[in-house]
Amino acid sequence: MKKVILASNNSHKLEEMKKILSDFNYEVVTMEEAGLINFEIVEDGKTFEENSLIKAKAVLEKLGEPTIADDSGLMVDYLDGEPGVYSARYAGENVSYEDNNKKLLGVLEEVPFLERKAKFVSVITMLFPSGDEIVVRGEIEGNIALTESGENGFGYDPLFYIPELKKTFAELSSEEKNEISHRAKALKILKEKLNQRNE
Ligand code: IMP
Repeated sequence: MKKVILASNNSHKLEEMKKILSDFNYEVVTMEEAGLINFEIVEDGKTFEENSLIKAKAVLEKLGEPTIADDSGLMVDYLDGEPGVYSARYAGENVSYEDNNKKLLGVLEEVPFLERKAKFVSVITMLFPSGDEIVVRGEIEGNIALTESGENGFGYDPLFYIPELKKTFAELSSEEKNEISHRAKALKILKEKLNQRNE
Protein backbone atom coordinates (compact mmCIF):
# COMPACT_ATOMS: atom_id res chain seq x y z
CA MET A 1 0.00 0.00 0.00
CA LYS A 2 1.18 3.51 -0.79
CA LYS A 3 2.16 5.62 2.19
CA VAL A 4 1.22 9.20 3.08
CA ILE A 5 2.74 11.27 5.89
CA LEU A 6 0.64 13.60 8.06
CA ALA A 7 2.66 16.79 8.52
CA SER A 8 1.56 17.81 12.01
CA ASN A 9 2.78 17.63 15.60
CA ASN A 10 -0.72 18.30 16.97
CA SER A 11 -1.86 14.99 18.50
CA HIS A 12 -5.55 15.99 18.37
CA LYS A 13 -5.42 16.82 14.70
CA LEU A 14 -3.48 13.62 13.98
CA GLU A 15 -6.08 11.53 15.79
CA GLU A 16 -8.94 13.17 13.89
CA MET A 17 -7.23 12.89 10.52
CA LYS A 18 -6.29 9.24 11.07
CA LYS A 19 -9.91 8.40 11.93
CA ILE A 20 -11.34 10.33 9.00
CA LEU A 21 -8.80 8.70 6.67
CA SER A 22 -9.39 5.16 7.96
CA ASP A 23 -10.89 4.21 4.56
CA PHE A 24 -8.08 5.89 2.63
CA ASN A 25 -6.21 4.14 -0.19
CA TYR A 26 -2.95 5.04 1.51
CA GLU A 27 -1.31 3.87 4.71
CA VAL A 28 -1.51 7.02 6.87
CA VAL A 29 1.58 7.62 9.02
CA THR A 30 2.57 10.43 11.35
CA MET A 31 5.95 12.17 11.07
CA GLU A 32 7.07 10.41 14.25
CA GLU A 33 6.03 7.02 12.90
CA ALA A 34 8.08 7.84 9.81
CA GLY A 35 11.12 8.57 12.02
CA LEU A 36 10.93 12.35 11.92
CA ILE A 37 11.00 13.29 15.60
CA ASN A 38 10.61 16.82 17.03
CA PHE A 39 10.56 18.33 13.57
CA GLU A 40 9.48 21.95 14.02
CA ILE A 41 8.20 23.91 11.05
CA VAL A 42 8.04 27.71 11.07
CA GLU A 43 4.56 28.67 9.93
CA ASP A 44 5.11 32.22 8.77
CA GLY A 45 2.48 32.35 6.03
CA LYS A 46 -0.31 34.91 6.02
CA THR A 47 -3.05 32.54 4.85
CA PHE A 48 -4.19 29.00 5.65
CA GLU A 49 -3.18 28.05 2.11
CA GLU A 50 0.38 29.35 2.54
CA ASN A 51 0.90 27.65 5.92
CA SER A 52 -0.58 24.39 4.75
CA LEU A 53 1.81 24.36 1.78
CA ILE A 54 4.81 25.34 3.97
CA LYS A 55 4.16 22.34 6.25
CA ALA A 56 3.55 19.82 3.47
CA LYS A 57 6.65 20.99 1.58
CA ALA A 58 8.94 20.83 4.62
CA VAL A 59 8.00 17.22 5.33
CA LEU A 60 8.04 16.09 1.70
CA GLU A 61 11.55 17.53 1.36
CA LYS A 62 12.66 15.57 4.44
CA LEU A 63 10.99 12.23 3.76
CA GLY A 64 10.34 12.15 0.02
CA GLU A 65 6.89 10.58 0.49
CA PRO A 66 3.44 11.97 -0.37
CA THR A 67 2.49 14.33 2.44
CA ILE A 68 -0.72 15.84 3.80
CA ALA A 69 -0.80 19.01 5.91
CA ASP A 70 -3.76 20.75 7.54
CA ASP A 71 -3.68 24.41 8.45
CA SER A 72 -6.78 25.42 10.28
CA GLY A 73 -8.29 28.01 12.53
CA LEU A 74 -11.27 29.93 13.78
CA MET A 75 -12.56 33.06 12.04
CA VAL A 76 -14.92 35.28 14.03
CA ASP A 77 -17.09 37.69 12.00
CA TYR A 78 -17.18 40.38 14.70
CA LEU A 79 -13.35 40.33 14.77
CA ASP A 80 -13.04 40.61 10.97
CA GLY A 81 -11.86 37.01 10.70
CA GLU A 82 -9.51 36.91 13.70
CA PRO A 83 -7.86 34.89 15.14
CA GLY A 84 -7.60 33.11 11.74
CA VAL A 85 -4.10 31.83 11.00
CA TYR A 86 -3.08 32.98 14.49
CA SER A 87 -5.64 30.72 16.22
CA ALA A 88 -3.01 28.54 17.94
CA ARG A 89 -1.19 31.57 19.39
CA TYR A 90 -4.10 34.00 19.90
CA ALA A 91 -3.21 34.70 23.55
CA GLY A 92 0.56 34.63 22.85
CA GLU A 93 3.36 32.17 22.00
CA ASN A 94 3.24 28.76 23.75
CA VAL A 95 -0.15 29.35 25.37
CA SER A 96 -2.71 26.71 26.31
CA TYR A 97 -6.05 26.14 24.60
CA GLU A 98 -7.62 27.43 27.81
CA ASP A 99 -5.68 30.72 27.55
CA ASN A 100 -6.93 31.23 23.99
CA ASN A 101 -10.53 30.45 24.98
CA LYS A 102 -10.36 32.91 27.88
CA LYS A 103 -8.95 35.60 25.63
CA LEU A 104 -11.70 35.08 23.05
CA LEU A 105 -14.43 35.19 25.70
CA GLY A 106 -12.91 38.38 27.11
CA VAL A 107 -12.68 40.10 23.73
CA LEU A 108 -16.31 39.21 22.94
CA GLU A 109 -17.62 39.95 26.43
CA GLU A 110 -20.01 42.73 25.37
CA VAL A 111 -21.04 41.07 22.11
CA PRO A 112 -24.54 39.50 22.09
CA PHE A 113 -24.93 35.86 21.02
CA LEU A 114 -26.46 36.61 17.62
CA GLU A 115 -23.47 38.77 16.66
CA ARG A 116 -20.96 36.06 17.56
CA LYS A 117 -20.99 34.24 14.23
CA ALA A 118 -17.83 32.35 13.37
CA LYS A 119 -16.48 29.59 11.19
CA PHE A 120 -13.80 26.96 11.43
CA VAL A 121 -11.62 26.62 8.33
CA SER A 122 -9.32 23.77 7.36
CA VAL A 123 -7.08 23.99 4.32
CA ILE A 124 -5.43 20.71 3.43
CA THR A 125 -2.56 20.36 1.00
CA MET A 126 -1.44 17.02 -0.37
CA LEU A 127 1.94 17.11 -2.07
CA PHE A 128 3.50 14.36 -4.16
CA PRO A 129 7.18 13.73 -4.89
CA SER A 130 6.36 14.42 -8.57
CA GLY A 131 5.54 18.02 -7.59
CA ASP A 132 1.78 17.48 -7.98
CA GLU A 133 -0.28 19.35 -5.47
CA ILE A 134 -3.91 19.09 -4.33
CA VAL A 135 -5.35 21.88 -2.16
CA VAL A 136 -8.80 21.58 -0.57
CA ARG A 137 -10.77 23.66 1.91
CA GLY A 138 -13.51 22.76 4.38
CA GLU A 139 -15.57 25.15 6.51
CA ILE A 140 -18.29 24.92 9.15
CA GLU A 141 -20.33 27.82 10.52
CA GLY A 142 -21.40 28.31 14.09
CA ASN A 143 -21.47 30.83 16.94
CA ILE A 144 -19.07 31.58 19.76
CA ALA A 145 -20.90 30.51 22.92
CA LEU A 146 -21.15 32.76 25.98
CA THR A 147 -19.41 30.17 28.15
CA GLU A 148 -17.42 26.98 27.56
CA SER A 149 -19.31 23.66 27.45
CA GLY A 150 -18.22 20.09 26.86
CA GLU A 151 -15.11 18.05 27.50
CA ASN A 152 -14.34 16.47 24.12
CA GLY A 153 -12.17 17.64 21.26
CA PHE A 154 -9.52 20.34 21.62
CA GLY A 155 -8.78 24.02 21.07
CA TYR A 156 -11.83 26.22 20.66
CA ASP A 157 -14.24 23.24 20.61
CA PRO A 158 -15.88 24.13 23.98
CA LEU A 159 -16.79 27.57 22.57
CA PHE A 160 -17.87 26.58 19.05
CA TYR A 161 -21.66 26.21 19.16
CA ILE A 162 -23.58 24.70 16.26
CA PRO A 163 -27.14 26.12 16.35
CA GLU A 164 -28.66 23.21 14.35
CA LEU A 165 -27.37 20.70 16.93
CA LYS A 166 -27.73 22.98 19.95
CA LYS A 167 -24.32 21.73 21.08
CA THR A 168 -20.71 22.86 21.04
CA PHE A 169 -18.09 20.80 19.19
CA ALA A 170 -16.81 19.70 22.61
CA GLU A 171 -20.25 18.22 23.43
CA LEU A 172 -20.11 15.96 20.36
CA SER A 173 -18.50 12.53 20.29
CA SER A 174 -15.40 12.29 18.11
CA GLU A 175 -17.49 10.33 15.57
CA GLU A 176 -20.10 13.11 15.44
CA LYS A 177 -17.48 15.84 15.09
CA ASN A 178 -15.66 13.88 12.38
CA GLU A 179 -18.89 13.71 10.32
CA ILE A 180 -19.34 17.47 10.06
CA SER A 181 -16.13 19.29 10.92
CA HIS A 182 -14.18 21.62 8.65
CA ARG A 183 -11.36 19.04 8.62
CA ALA A 184 -13.73 16.21 7.69
CA LYS A 185 -15.21 18.28 4.85
CA ALA A 186 -11.77 19.12 3.45
CA LEU A 187 -10.60 15.50 3.66
CA LYS A 188 -13.80 14.29 1.96
CA ILE A 189 -13.07 16.57 -1.00
CA LEU A 190 -9.46 15.34 -1.02
CA LYS A 191 -10.64 11.72 -1.22
CA GLU A 192 -12.98 12.61 -4.11
CA LYS A 193 -10.14 14.34 -5.97
CA LEU A 194 -7.84 11.34 -5.48
CA ASN A 195 -10.58 8.99 -6.69
CA GLN A 196 -10.92 11.08 -9.86
CA ARG A 197 -7.19 10.58 -10.42
CA ASN A 198 -7.51 6.86 -9.63
CA GLU A 199 -5.08 7.28 -6.75
P1 IMP B 1 -2.42 25.13 13.20
O1 IMP B 1 -1.78 23.95 13.83
O2 IMP B 1 -1.51 26.27 12.93
O3 IMP B 1 -3.23 24.74 11.99
O4 IMP B 1 -3.40 25.72 14.30
C1 IMP B 1 -4.69 25.34 14.38
C2 IMP B 1 -5.33 26.00 15.60
O5 IMP B 1 -6.67 26.35 15.25
C3 IMP B 1 -5.43 25.03 16.76
O6 IMP B 1 -4.35 25.14 17.64
C4 IMP B 1 -6.73 25.45 17.40
O7 IMP B 1 -6.51 26.55 18.23
C5 IMP B 1 -7.57 25.91 16.21
N1 IMP B 1 -8.34 24.79 15.63
C6 IMP B 1 -8.20 24.24 14.41
N2 IMP B 1 -9.06 23.23 14.23
C7 IMP B 1 -9.76 23.13 15.37
C8 IMP B 1 -10.78 22.24 15.80
O8 IMP B 1 -11.21 21.30 15.10
N3 IMP B 1 -11.24 22.45 17.05
C9 IMP B 1 -10.78 23.45 17.84
N4 IMP B 1 -9.82 24.28 17.51
C10 IMP B 1 -9.30 24.13 16.27
